[in-house]
Amino acid sequence: MEGFHRLRLAAVDGLTDDAVALTFAVPDGLRQLFRFRPGQHLTLRTELGGEDLRRTYSVCAPTGGPLRVAVKRLDGGAFSTWACTQLQAGDEVEVLPPAGRFGPAVAASRRRRYGLVAAGSGITPVLSIAATVLAVEPASEVVLLYGNRTARDVMLLEELSDLKDRHPTRLQVLHVLSREEQPSELLSGRLDPHRLGRLLDAFVPVASVDEWYLCGPFGLVTGARELLTARGASSVHVELFHAEAPPPRPPRPQGTAGETTVVAELHGRASTVTMDRDEKVLDAVLRVRVDAPYACRGGVCGTCRARVLEGAVEMDTNWALEPDELATGVVLTCQSRPTTGVLRLAYL
Ligand SMILES: Cc1cc2nc3c(=O)[nH]c(=O)nc-3n(C[C@H](O)[C@H](O)[C@H](O)COP(=O)(O)OP(=O)(O)OC[C@H]3O[C@@H](n4cnc5c(N)ncnc54)[C@H](O)[C@@H]3O)c2cc1C
Ligand code: FES
Repeated sequence: MEGFHRLRLAAVDGLTDDAVALTFAVPDGLRQLFRFRPGQHLTLRTELGGEDLRRTYSVCAPTGGPLRVAVKRLDGGAFSTWACTQLQAGDEVEVLPPAGRFGPAVAASRRRRYGLVAAGSGITPVLSIAATVLAVEPASEVVLLYGNRTARDVMLLEELSDLKDRHPTRLQVLHVLSREEQPSELLSGRLDPHRLGRLLDAFVPVASVDEWYLCGPFGLVTGARELLTARGASSVHVELFHAEAPPPRPPRPQGTAGETTVVAELHGRASTVTMDRDEKVLDAVLRVRVDAPYACRGGVCGTCRARVLEGAVEMDTNWALEPDELATGVVLTCQSRPTTGVLRLAYL
């Protein structure tokens, strides 16, 4: 399928009892396309039991390092269970090139203090950011607050320890464990917004940090953003792996929704489809373009983004687009319903 590339797995390494790291071999001809910035992610695709499954995984290596993601197995999780139990070195997986804008624009001349907050598998993009910043910006510092259940659950522990050994004075890591006693009461318990507030009081004055990057469960990430903003932080970036679907919209009176003609530009070709305005744009476009990109369908991964060239839409939810993208007409097609009779959009 256009957009996806079959990449061979150079290595599959166990990280914890329920997480693996997948390292892809990138052929010379695709090296440029698969270059990634810190905090970016890949969308992987497979077919299981006749179902097309697509899931997004953040690259967990520094820019310039191996193309590597880490997958944590979820109870009942279709893709993560397959990846953690079936994939082996030498297998091929379909992969979209890196995407996403969660991560700083690193530069050797910058002198910043970065605050990183992660829980569980949320460490993946955060590790990429920390490792890249420490390698590229010699005057910058990183403080990481990282929550897990026990020390055994800490994904990428070895990579974090190596990073700490290489940059002992510029990297500070605070491990918070919810099911394991630690010498400090503050570090023993769930990393939730309340505990985060206490940790900031004790160790990390908010004013000492220039940029914040948060990745973890919905409650932690949204609560932490609220807390940091209330304490005066102005540069707070979030990455969500999963969000509950918003409550269903009340149905419009029958026959009042109307129809929209959608023209979708993708891979240099325009396709037209007529849709009901209560439908999602992505569902309509997929009827005529099976190559339309998507993964989560939940407004978190951003894979389905497109720019509106004519007409307008309303989105149910958005956890993937930053205000500057919204200002230039970028929308998530999996969350968009048209509000005009004609809608022309270009996939990005
Ligand atoms: C931008 C982005 C980056 C991501 N990076 C990573 C990463 O680096 N490592 C990683 O392991 N995962 C990552 N994810 C999550 C990943 O894409 C999948 O959602 C996850 O692996 C579950 O897929 P599954 O098919 O196993 O579960 P599914 O079969 O899709 O779901 C099983 C059940 O779990 C719920 N669920 C699905 N995802 C989550 C979740 N993340 N947290 C809690 N409940 C969930 C579902 O609602 C369902 O009830 C990322 C997601 C996004 C959007
Ligand atoms: S498919 Fe993930 S945001 Fe639309």
